[in-house]
Amino acid sequence: MTLRITVLGCGYLGTTHAAGMAELGFEVMGMDVDEDRVATLAAGRAPLYEPHLEPMLRTHVDSGRLRFTTSYEEVAQFGDVHFLCIGTPQKKGEYATDLRYQHGVVDGLSPHLDRPALVVGKSTVPVGTAAALRDRIQAAAPAARDVDLVWNPEFLREGFAVHDTLHPDRIVLGTDSEPAVETMREVYAKTLADGTPLIVTDYQTAELVKAAANAFLATKISFINAMSELCEAAGANVDELADALGHDERIGRKFLNAGIGFGGGCIPKDIRGLIARAGELGVDQAVSFLKEVDAINMRQRAHVVDLARAALGGSLLGTRVAVLGAAFKPDTDDIRDSPALNVAGQLHLQGAEVSVYDPRANDSARRIFPTLTYADSTLEACQGADLVLHLTMWQEFLDADPAEIGEVVNHRRVIDGRNALDADRWRAAGWTYRALGRP
Ligand code: UGA
Repeated sequence: MTLRITVLGCGYLGTTHAAGMAELGFEVMGMDVDEDRVATLAAGRAPLYEPHLEPMLRTHVDSGRLRFTTSYEEVAQFGDVHFLCIGTPQKKGEYATDLRYQHGVVDGLSPHLDRPALVVGKSTVPVGTAAALRDRIQAAAPAARDVDLVWNPEFLREGFAVHDTLHPDRIVLGTDSEPAVETMREVYAKTLADGTPLIVTDYQTAELVKAAANAFLATKISFINAMSELCEAAGANVDELADALGHDERIGRKFLNAGIGFGGGCIPKDIRGLIARAGELGVDQAVSFLKEVDAINMRQRAHVVDLARAALGGSLLGTRVAVLGAAFKPDTDDIRDSPALNVAGQLHLQGAEVSVYDPRANDSARRIFPTLTYADSTLEACQGADLVLHLTMWQEFLDADPAEIGEVVNHRRVIDGRNALDADRWRAAGWTYRALGRP
C-alpha cells in the first residue's frame, strides 16, 4: 500500500514540501492552523511567492492528490508519515530558539495518533529537540511506542524551493530505527534513485548538520564582507579578490558576494540559536566567532547607511532616496530580517523620504514598514531621487537601463549594496557609482 503523507505547517517549507510530495506521486494532506491560509491553498493558490510553486500546487489540488485541512484529527487519520514543517523563530529578547510552535503542533497531533505512524521533523531546531519531541509524542499518543520520530533536516533555499525539494543535494536522517529508515527510503525512493546521497545518523548529528550548514554559509558571507571592509580601507577590489579566491576549489566562489549581507527567516536566527544552545551545553567558546559573524553582517547595513549619508553631503534630512528591493533576496516576497528593508527603515528614521520598489515584496514590506513610500516600478521609485540604492539583486534591476532611470532622478548617484550592477554601464550613463569594498 502506498504511504499517505501529511505536512503540518504550510509556510515556505511546508507548502513546497506538500506540493513536492504530491509531485512525487503521494496522496498528501497539508495542515495549518490558519484558516485563511488553508482556504487559499485549498483553492490551489500559493499564499507566498516562490517560483514554480503555484502551478505545481494547482495541478495536484485539481487532481485531488493534494488536500488541506485545519484539523489534527483528520491528518492523524489520513497519514502514515507526518512531516513537521513548523517555524522555529528566535525568542523575543534572547538568542535562543522558540519551540512553542513545535510543541503546539505535536501536542495537537499526538492524542489522535492511534495507529503506527512515523513523524518526521524538518525544521531547524536546537540539538536535543528531537529526542524530547519523540518522548512527548509517545507519551501522548494512544499508539505510544508504535509512533516513531525521525529527524530529516531541510536545506532548501527560498527562490529555489521547488527545485531543492525535488532534487535535494543530500538527504540526512537522524534515527536509530531500521524500520524508520526503510519508510523514509520509500518516501524518497525517486530522489534516491536519482543518486541523491543519503546520510543516516543519530538525532543529535542530524540536528547539528542543519545548524552547522547555515553557520558555515553565514561565516562565508561575513568573511567576504570583512575582506570588503579591508579592501575599502586599502583601496582594493573585493569582487576581484573573491573571483581570485574562488578559483581555489577548496574555497569556491559561491556565497562570496560582498554587500549588505545575509538576512531572511533562517540564517540570522539559526546562528543565534546555535550560539545559545552551545552556551547551554557549556561550549560557548566553540562558537563565539559566530557573534563576530553576526556583528560583521550588521555592520554592513550600517555602513551602507553611512555611505548614503556621505553621498548626500553629510545629512539625510529632507533628501529623497529610492530603494530598489525590499525582499531579503531575489525571487521571494519574504521580508523577514531583510537587510534591504532594514536599510530603507534606517534612512527614513534619519530624515530621508524613502521610496521603495520591490517586484514582489511591496505588500509584505508595507505591512511591517507602513511609513515608507511604495512605488509600482523602478522609474516611479526613482522619480526625483537624490540617490538610488540597489539593495536586492532582482534580475529586473540588473537589466534596468541606467540612461532611462537617469532621466527621472534629481541626481545621478547610485550605491550598489549588492555589488551586482554593471558599473561601467552606469558610469557611462553619467552616474556616480559606488559599491562596497571597491574603489
Ligand atoms: C538558507 C540556506 O541557504 C538554505 O540551505 C537553508 O535551508 C535555509 O536558509 C533555511 O535554513 O531554511 P535562504 O534563507 O533561502 O536559505 O537564503 P540564502 O540563499 O542562503 O541567502 C541568505 C542571505 O544571504 C540573503 O540575504 C542573501 O542575499 C545573502 N547572501 C548570499 C549574501 O549576502 N552574499 C552571498 O554571497 C550569498
